[in-house]
Amino acid sequence: MVDYGGQYSQLIARRVRECGVFSELLPHDVAAREVARNRPKGVILSGGPASVYADGAPPLDRELLELGVPVLGICYGMQLLARELGGRVDGSEVGEYGRSRLTVREPGRLLAGTPLEQTCWMSHRDTVFAAPPGFAALASSTASPVAAFECVQRGVYGIQFHPEVVHTPYGQQVLANFLEVICGCERSWGPSSVIDEQIVRIRAQVGDGRAICGLSGGVDSSVAALLVHRAIGDRLTCVFVDHGLMRKDEGTQVVAAFRDHFHVPLVAVDAADRFLGRLRGVSDPECKRKRIGAEFIRVFEEEASKLEGVGFLVQGTLYSDVIESGGGTGAATIKSHHNVGGLPADLRFELVEPLRALFKDEVRAVGAQLGLPERLVWRQPFPGPGLAIRIVGGEATRARLDILREADAILQDEIRAAGLYRELWQSFCVLPDIRTVGVEGDARTYGNVIVIRAVTSDDAMTADWARLPYDLLEQIASRMINEIRPVGRVVLDITSKPPGTIEWE
Ligand code: XMP
Repeated sequence: MVDYGGQYSQLIARRVRECGVFSELLPHDVAAREVARNRPKGVILSGGPASVYADGAPPLDRELLELGVPVLGICYGMQLLARELGGRVDGSEVGEYGRSRLTVREPGRLLAGTPLEQTCWMSHRDTVFAAPPGFAALASSTASPVAAFECVQRGVYGIQFHPEVVHTPYGQQVLANFLEVICGCERSWGPSSVIDEQIVRIRAQVGDGRAICGLSGGVDSSVAALLVHRAIGDRLTCVFVDHGLMRKDEGTQVVAAFRDHFHVPLVAVDAADRFLGRLRGVSDPECKRKRIGAEFIRVFEEEASKLEGVGFLVQGTLYSDVIESGGGTGAATIKSHHNVGGLPADLRFELVEPLRALFKDEVRAVGAQLGLPERLVWRQPFPGPGLAIRIVGGEATRARLDILREADAILQDEIRAAGLYRELWQSFCVLPDIRTVGVEGDARTYGNVIVIRAVTSDDAMTADWARLPYDLLEQIASRMINEIRPVGRVVLDITSKPPGTIEWE
């Protein structure tokens, strides 16, 4: 897939994979020979925010049409094809945003098997008014005279609507037509093929060398570690640094899964005292983050230096990280914001990143296939600095961490029991450094406040506060106040992102 900057490019790549076909997203200025090097069965040109007539609008590289494989343009991609090949594209008086009616005149190969009248989802202002010469105009919509076209001889196809969103009910069928019928792809890609392929790759990369992996308990590092363990067995050692800022029982679960169940060589370091020592007197959030990150590196390096002959470092870098840091083909860089706390480049390890081509949901599928416990497969994201950055406006002391950990455990408990855990991107508690007055029995109390934060999100870039049922909230609040002595009040955060962030600091 060639990415012209569309909001949904990643989603298209995922939908292709859901059809059982591997897809990769490359920036629009990628050289055609680089695309060819990947030996694609087909090329998809994504949507994008620009008008094809705007100054600096990303152009179509004609060589992409000469690769000898079918090309499908979606939205902006279709408009580029139309303009380049002699069709007519113009800015329209009215844009077409949201749900639209699609009338199929002639299904062709692309729309085969879909109804003559269907709904689809549109988001464009420029419009294709005439298909290029030699092309069949397959369908029109409310505001698009040509909403789909194809030229079988040239192997060029286009759709104005977005097949990747749920509001286009036959979108997946159209993608499947392109992939299977037009490109001749086999639908064989999936968790099992990923596991087999990665094991071969890891063995080729590591040879008879040794590797180390920083386990955080998150799904990414867990799945990466299991894959590498499958490939090279006990020549992998995992290091789990318990910084004392984990949620309740989290450390025990990681150790139980990896050491006891999977028999992965595991060094578990209880470094809570060291970390709490470094956090003494610190209330500034960035300072907390820096100190935790630096201490993490120190502990990890100490442990790494005790192991002999380790040449490889396993990281759970995901495809979304790769895209965010500017593309799939660049040299591997060690993430600075990663769960393991940003390891320095001079560690002199070669990186092993078996998840570099996978999206989060695919990593979960691979994890499940590898037998990772459900709790680890579906764990919500948890920040590297842990509970320390959820004690707001004050120092992360052991006493405060204990209060927060207990409150968090109740929240997780109740949310799981209500069957809502997987629906939420994150759910957690915050402990601000304030006290409020209350009354319990006949006595005045002066207790801590717990904030409930629960959000829905796709990627953490934006988030909405979750509408948790009132009864559930009541149950959570009353358990927190009854079961945790210092807690005197429970409040709910109803801020979305933006303007708020997900975490409080
Ligand atoms: P914000 O608060 O920026 O969070 O909306 C977005 C996502 O990033 C996580 N987060 C962090 N993760 N170290 C991490 O590893 C950090 O310092 C950090 N701060 C925020 C947050 O939990 C959310 O998923």
